[in-house]
Amino acid sequence: MTNKPRLVVSTGAGISAESGIKTFRDADGLWENYPVMDVASADGFRRDPALIHRFYNERRRQLGAVRPNRAHEILHELEEHFDVCIITQNVDDLHERAGSTNVLHLHGELMKVRALDDPDLTFRLESTECETTPDTRIDGHAVRPHIVFFQEAVPMFEPATELAAEADIFVIVGTSLVVYPAAGLLHYVRRGVPVYYIDPNPSPVPAGVTVIRAKATEGLARLAEILLKD
Ligand code: OAD
Repeated sequence: MTNKPRLVVSTGAGISAESGIKTFRDADGLWENYPVMDVASADGFRRDPALIHRFYNERRRQLGAVRPNRAHEILHELEEHFDVCIITQNVDDLHERAGSTNVLHLHGELMKVRALDDPDLTFRLESTECETTPDTRIDGHAVRPHIVFFQEAVPMFEPATELAAEADIFVIVGTSLVVYPAAGLLHYVRRGVPVYYIDPNPSPVPAGVTVIRAKATEGLARLAEILLKD
C-alpha cells in the first residue's frame, strides 16, 4: 500500500505522436496507408493473416526507431509524488521505456504474440527486429500478434474500470474517445474526482472535465505544475 494519491492516466495514440508514431484518425480511415479494418479487425485477420503479420512486423520495427518523448517521461517522474497507474490504448512500449512501472495495455502489445490455440499463452519477442508469419511456431504453437482487433472482446477492460474507480485524480491524454469500451472509462471515475483531458483537438467531454487544449508534452508539463502546486 502507498499513501500517495492515486493518479490514473488513460492514454491514446496522441501521447506517442511526438515520438513520431502516427495516430489512427488523422488519415481518412487509413493506418500507415492500410485500411484500418484490413489490419486491425478479426475479419481482416481471417481473410489475410500474412498481411496482418507483415503489418505488425513493420509496426514493431518502427518501434526500434522511436523513443519515448517528454510526455512519457513526465508520467514516469510523477511516480515520485503519486501512485501513477497508466491505462493505455497504445500497443507501443514507450511508457515502459520511459520508466513507468504500472502500465495496463487495453489493446495489446506489439512486443508480444500469442498462441492461436491458447489465448492466455503469450510470448514476449526479444527484439523489434523479430518477425512472425502464419508459419511461425513458438514452443510448437502457431501465433498471432497480441493485439485486440475490432470485433474482439477487450479482456483488460474490467481491470481498467477497477483502476478508474480507484482514482483520486483521473487524466486522459491524446485520445479521440471514439473507440469503446476504452472511451467509457471516464464513467467509472467516482463523483468529485478531478478529471483532466489533454489533447490539441479534444473531443466533446462531460461538463466538469478540465480540458487542456495542448499537445501531450506541453499539456502534461502544465498539468504537473497544477498537481504539484496543490
Ligand atoms: P486516435 O487516432 O483516434 O486519436 C488520437 C488523438 O490524439 C486525437 O484526439 C488527436 O487530437 C490527439 N493528438 C494528436 N497529436 C497529439 C499530440 N501531440 N499530443 C496529444 N494528443 C494528440 O487514437 P486513439 O484514440 O488512441 O485500437 O484510438 C483508439 C484506438 O483506435 C486505438 O487504440 C486503436 C485504434 O483502432 C486498436 O488498434 C485496437
